[in-house]
Amino acid sequence: MREVLIKSEEDTRAFGHGLAEKLRPNTVVALIGDLGTGKTTLTKYIAEGLGIKETITSPTFTIVCEYHSGRLPLYHFDVYRLENADDLFEIGAEEYFYAGGVSIVEWADQVAEILPDDTLCIFIEYGQKEGERVYKCTF
Ligand SMILES: Nc1ncnc2c1ncn2[C@@H]1O[C@H](COP(=O)(O)OP(=O)(O)O)[C@@H](O)[C@H]1O
Ligand SMILES: [Mg+2]
Repeated sequence: MREVLIKSEEDTRAFGHGLAEKLRPNTVVALIGDLGTGKTTLTKYIAEGLGIKETITSPTFTIVCEYHSGRLPLYHFDVYRLENADDLFEIGAEEYFYAGGVSIVEWADQVAEILPDDTLCIFIEYGQKEGERVYKCTF
């Protein structure tokens, strides 16, 4: 897996913007990492890179939030509160995945079975110093 050392939130921003440029319709991005590793923060920067003007809020209680003001629609999922992939299936996640936009799924490891085979996975870990993160990417 490709490993990226993120030294600060500014690096997260640059990574998010770079990824946003490469995203195509129907791409699913899986963010896997502990609380506070920066899944929502990275999502905000990907959204910024897509040109989304709305404020990105954490969809913990709503499971999914949609944004339509950018180059591609963004469907932002946080599946922390779901029991398993069946719950995500029931809210119609697969329709979102293939609706022509970009789907970003926080805590995606909890619903691995439902994710498309070509999902872009980013495993996020804390680095050694404050602000540092290590991204392990399957792409
Ligand atoms: N390099 C970094 N990347 C992302 N967030 C960082 C970084 N360094 C510090 N942070 C801070 O860590 C916190 C991450 O919170 P959040 O994005 O909500 O995490 P998660 O969604 O994974 O629980 C934010 O307060 C953010 O400012
Ligand atoms: Mg979050």
